[in-house]
Order: sequence, then C-alpha cells, then structure tokens
Amino acid sequence: MQFKLSEDTLMIRNMVRNFAKKEIEPLAEELDNTHQFPTESFKKMGELDLAGLCIPEEWGGGGGSYLDFAVFIEELAKVCASTAVIMSVHTGLGCMSIYKYGSQKLKEKYLKDLASGKIVGAYALTEPNAGSDAGSLKCRAEDKGDHFILNGQKIFITNGNATTFCTFVKTDSTQGPGKGITCLIVERDTPGFTISKPVDKMGMNGSPTVELSFEDCKVPKENVLGEINDGFKVAMGLLDGGRITIGAQALGIGEGALEYTTQYMKERQQFGKPLAANQGLQFMVADMATALDAAQLLVYRAAWMKDNDIPHGKEASMAKLFASDTAMEVTTNCVQLLGGYGYCKEYPVERMMRDAKITQIYEGANQIQRMIIGRNVIGKFK
Ligand code: CAA
Repeated sequence: MQFKLSEDTLMIRNMVRNFAKKEIEPLAEELDNTHQFPTESFKKMGELDLAGLCIPEEWGGGGGSYLDFAVFIEELAKVCASTAVIMSVHTGLGCMSIYKYGSQKLKEKYLKDLASGKIVGAYALTEPNAGSDAGSLKCRAEDKGDHFILNGQKIFITNGNATTFCTFVKTDSTQGPGKGITCLIVERDTPGFTISKPVDKMGMNGSPTVELSFEDCKVPKENVLGEINDGFKVAMGLLDGGRITIGAQALGIGEGALEYTTQYMKERQQFGKPLAANQGLQFMVADMATALDAAQLLVYRAAWMKDNDIPHGKEASMAKLFASDTAMEVTTNCVQLLGGYGYCKEYPVERMMRDAKITQIYEGANQIQRMIIGRNVIGKFK
C-alpha cells in the first residue's frame, strides 16, 4: 500500500499550487464581490492543459489521471472555491460526459474545444420539482425522427455561461421515474433555449448559477450521449465521478481556511501571548487537521479507484459527504478563531464558510449521499 503521490502527480500539484497562488488567489475576493466569471483565468487554465486535465491529449486534454484532477481542484479550492467548482463541473461533467458517452463525431465537434478551454461545459439535471429525486425529471423531448423537440425547465445549473449543456430529458413518458430518460448536448445558441440571469446566492459568487428553459427547442439526434431512454444511468455514472471532485473542493476549502487561521493564531496576541499558545485552541486545530487528513484519504482513494476502473459510487459519496461536512465544521471554527474579524469581509474565512455550505448540498445533498452509502452497505429496501 502506498500513501504517497506519484512523481507526476506531485509535479502537477506544484505547478497548480504556484499557478493558484499567483493567478487565482488575488482574484478570489473580487469574484465574490462582483459575481463575475473568471474568463481570463479559465483561458489561462486552458493554455496550461488544465481545462481538461483528465481527458486524453488526443481530445485536447491534459492526459492526466482522475487523481491529478482531484488534486488540481483541491489546490484551486484552497484559494478560490468558485474557480474550483467551475473547473470541477466543466471537466468532470461537461468534458467527461462527451468523453465517456459521446460518439466520435461529438468528440470532434465539442470535446476538443471543451478540453482545451476554448469553450465552457455545463450539466443540466435538476428541475424545480426534481432535485434530490432526480429520476422524476419532467423536461420532455419528443422524438421527431432525426431530432428531438424539447420543452421544460432546469434550475440550479452551474456554469451558466457555458456553450454546451449536457441535458437530461424525458423521452418516454410511459416509463416511470429513473427510466425513459435521455442525455443530450444542447448548444447555447439553439433557438427556443433561454438562459436566465445568474441567481443570487449565499456564496460561490464567481460561478454563475442559472435557470434554463426550453420552448420547442430542436436538438439533433446525433447529440445524444449514451443510449436513448437509458440516460439516467449516464447522469448517475457521471455524478459518481463528479462527487469525488466536489469532495476535493470541500477538502481544499477546509485546508485553505485552516492554513489562514493557523497563521493568524501565531500573530494575534491576547492575554500577553499568541492565540496559538492556548492549548484549548491547539486542540481545535488538532481536530480540524485530523478530519481534513481523513477527508483527503477518502477523496484520493475514490479518485484512485476511478483511475483503476473499480466501481466507486459508494466511495465517491463517502468522500463527498465527509469532506463537505468537514469543510463546514472547519470553516465555522476558523471564523470563531478569528473572532469578530472572522465575521468581517476583510478576512477570507467568512467567504470560505459561505462557500463551504453548498458542498453539503450540490451534486447530491448529504442526505442523498447517506442514502447511497446505506443502500450499498445493506442493500435497497422499500
Ligand atoms: N451508476 C449507474 N447507474 C445507476 C447508478 C450509478 N451510480 N445509481 C443508480 N443507477 C441506476 C439503477 O441501477 C437503476 O437502474 P435499473 O432499474 O436498471 O437497475 C436506475 O439508475 C434508478 O436507480 P435507483 O432506483 O437507485 O433510483 P432512485 O430514484 O431510488 O435513487 C438517487 C437515485 C441516488 C436518489 C438519485 O436520484 C440521486 O443521486 N439524487 C441526487 C441528485 C443529484 O445528485 N443532483 C445533482 C445535480 S448536479 C449538480 O448539483 C451539479 C452542479 O452544478 C454543481
């Protein structure tokens, strides 16, 4: 058993860490305040082969492993969680959907541009009445021979500025929940496809979250990913991977907050000594560091399993669940340790605490992760 990263992964980590410190961290506060998508950073990541890091080079990607991708997201999230979720969804769902389930033609048409960072990708599953119960989605697509006609709505869609939306629609309404669903790529400029303005959120402000509406929107059949009427498995299969990098994102947020806070504790003097000299506070740090270490092991193990083609749905859910609960606890404690300053926007830990909250919710609320883990451990009972 090996507990160290390979030379290749360490090299990527160093490169990404330097890049994130130099190019991403200085923008984090601004993105939070202005709610702007980091277009320039995204372009730079494309130039550095990071936009499709785990996609093979022949398709415009970086040719790295899924573990490399998880480490990349972790490093981004240490300094800017918004940028991390943008890349997690773009690569893990936007690029991976086409790489795993798309035809050669679709790969030529979209994947090269996505993986090289020329365009942004998104994933559209959730609807107003189908959130945790994703299998009950109602957005419908009528089969018209060589194309589908889409009508319906999607909400809470990350990367609202995307060019390609990997969209899940009901193509056979005679089938029950989780069945008769098809996955297809909808291009941004398709007539009948409307994208709302970004919704106002608690955090992750650099990542535009939108609503989509389809009104007699014509999508060619060649844009189907996987099998017609078997798209729910595509949705779930992609989330098995996506949840690993949401775990990595949560891990990075927690690590970033703890790093900032321990530095603060060494400098802040109260009662004639630094905060760090108080054993009670040291114990808080010890608990946070231990939980983050455990979260990292869970995230890396799930990524390693994916790289080795080992079924990893349960382990991805465990990683996402534990890392996000840890991120919430760690960032809350970090705000506490900074006291009044921690509650002020001038210090980054309050942003980190707001950003951490959503990692317990998106790509499956943690109650859903527990459901998936439970079913894997004891079987599915009704
Ligand atoms: N891989 C492949 N197939 C899978 C699967 C997986 N991981 N999980 C389930 N399936 C298959 C099942 O085998 C079943 O097919 P069969 O009947 O042929 O065997 C079918 O899918 C239905 O499965 P279930 O009966 O288990 O479905 P369910 O409705 O009971 O439970 C769920 C499914 C796990 C609760 C699912 O609905 C779920 O994950 N919900 C959460 C939704 C979610 O995560 N949304 C995230 C939105 S995306 C987002 O947030 C991204 C972003 O922008 C940041």
